[in-house]
Amino acid sequence: LEAGEAGGHPLWPMKLLVVGGGGREHALGWALRGDRRVNQIFFAPGNAGTSELGENLTIAATDGEGIAGWCAEARPDLVVIGPEAPLCAGLADRLRAERITVFGPGADGARLEGSKAFTKGLLKEAGVPTAGCERFTDYRLALAYSRAQAYPQVIKADGLAAGKGVVIAENAWEAAAALYEMMAKRVFGAAGAEVLIEEFLEGEEVSVHAVTDGQKMVVFPPAQDHKRIFDGNRGPNTGGMGAYAPAPVLGEEEMKRVRETILEPVLAGLRGRKMDYRGVLYAGLMVTRDGPKVLEFNARFGDPETQVLVPLAGARLLDVLLGAARGDLGDVGLPEVTGAALTVVVAADGYPEQPRLGDPVTLPPVPETGGMVFHAGTRWEGEQIVTAGGRVAAATGWGATLAEAHDRAYALARQIRFRGCQFRSDIGQKAFLRR
Ligand code: AMP
Ligand code: GLY
Repeated sequence: LEAGEAGGHPLWPMKLLVVGGGGREHALGWALRGDRRVNQIFFAPGNAGTSELGENLTIAATDGEGIAGWCAEARPDLVVIGPEAPLCAGLADRLRAERITVFGPGADGARLEGSKAFTKGLLKEAGVPTAGCERFTDYRLALAYSRAQAYPQVIKADGLAAGKGVVIAENAWEAAAALYEMMAKRVFGAAGAEVLIEEFLEGEEVSVHAVTDGQKMVVFPPAQDHKRIFDGNRGPNTGGMGAYAPAPVLGEEEMKRVRETILEPVLAGLRGRKMDYRGVLYAGLMVTRDGPKVLEFNARFGDPETQVLVPLAGARLLDVLLGAARGDLGDVGLPEVTGAALTVVVAADGYPEQPRLGDPVTLPPVPETGGMVFHAGTRWEGEQIVTAGGRVAAATGWGATLAEAHDRAYALARQIRFRGCQFRSDIGQKAFLRR
């Protein structure tokens, strides 16, 4: 393609804005900046890694006013919204009203992530397999229902609770304590006004991402996250300590089934509610003995799943995101996946409870092929990169096999150094054990 022949797409060179500042946004920005049609990329607010790709704006991802103001001046050709908070707050609606091309659903569609009750209703109506559940706004009714159910049972606050609003109660004591904290004490604030009590599903977790323009979709290979802080899935839940793709727990046939019985019906349900959903459908699934069932939906790319999906998407990412944002994916598809990718999150001491911040970070040189360190919680302090968040970086490798991806990712992870740095040593082990 030559400039000006981009098949109905905005004439390149293009100017992009990525909203967010985590590993996901560095990975998205890295791939998009690598597309020769993109010559300017901005991040709000970005991190030390994204500042090497383009320009970091001193605007927070949740500062809708600030972002809208910047866009009105700069008129970017595409805005990609990374995190859920700005989506739920209606940033995409606000920018679309200003005729900006935006990747990410409006506040209506973002309820898929922002409200578990909304999603359960949609799943039930569409006949999508998911855990049985009941909703409560009354603490005493919830307590009575919980006592009558089997254990373990899963108790969830309805709204966004930064990934902490889910308790797996092993017995009546734990269930009662969780209900008390969420509904009576309101430790998650308004998110606890409504609570779901859900059937416990047993199996292996996997996430499937699809990008949709509201009608059509492209589906990424299945990815597996590692949510607990320590090896062997021990310790508290985190944002995610590592991921790999494709995850062999879902083969080609099962992926077809996921698309037909889960993703397509959910998209149809959104359309039936008059939603023009342009963004990511992230299905968090449990692969049970009766097949894949939905645990949750998110309205954005996973972090750290993005860090492994992006290298596998090859050169198509810009076309996919732009097509979805414009409401017409056309016949854009993803390349057939031949290899694999794996990422290891290097976290700060004390993460997830109380991460140490402000320590100088040493990073390895960027490999020529097959690997990349995506920054997350990093920032510049003068000439030095220092830690600025719990998850500091995601050491990512890819190659013809998962073993190759694994070795490249770990070789990088071992060269990321700062005081008290920690990472899991067993990312991808489930896939290796499966063989
Ligand atoms: P959620 O935020 O709904 O994805 O829940 C967070 C985590 O809790 C999930 O990643 C699962 O590990 C676990 N979980 C949630 N719902 C269930 C369920 N019904 N059965 C078993 N585990 C669950
Ligand atoms: N890695 C899990 C998430 O992004 O929600």
